[in-house]
Amino acid sequence: MSTPLPLLVLNGPNLNLLGTREPETYGSQTLEDVRALTEAAAAERRLTVDFRQSNHEGDLVDWIQQARTSHAGILINPAAYTHTSVAIRDALAAVDVPIVEVHLSNIHRREPFRHHSHVSAVADVVIAGAGATGYALGVAWLAERLSA
Ligand code: DQA
Repeated sequence: MSTPLPLLVLNGPNLNLLGTREPETYGSQTLEDVRALTEAAAAERRLTVDFRQSNHEGDLVDWIQQARTSHAGILINPAAYTHTSVAIRDALAAVDVPIVEVHLSNIHRREPFRHHSHVSAVADVVIAGAGATGYALGVAWLAERLSA
């Protein structure tokens, strides 16, 4: 049997500061903790994860475009770009793999400017407010979808 392509897990700006950044909103887990939890959820389902973070919109756009041929699915926390980036939305729309949008916090219970996501209209699944567990939930859905 051939090895399945990895899942691409993308994290947007300021998520490198998890653990110290507004812990009352984002929890005390670091991005490395989130990576470990995501990799474990994937390994349970015999999948691998390519886990990345960037503070730069263009990096995220480039990585999404590359996923067209190299990854089985995308899980993305676009962070602040959720609310601003048509470029990330358009890149995701151009990729024909299942897409999960994830947010640590419940963006709908926060400031009004966080209530709109440019990404949700092109995501298959949206998870918000489950903390780091949202990444594991997203991986579980992707695994189920890919095995269907
Ligand atoms: C976030 C929510 C965004 O509004 C915010 O800009 C982030 C993180 C979340 O995971 O809850 O940086 O995507």
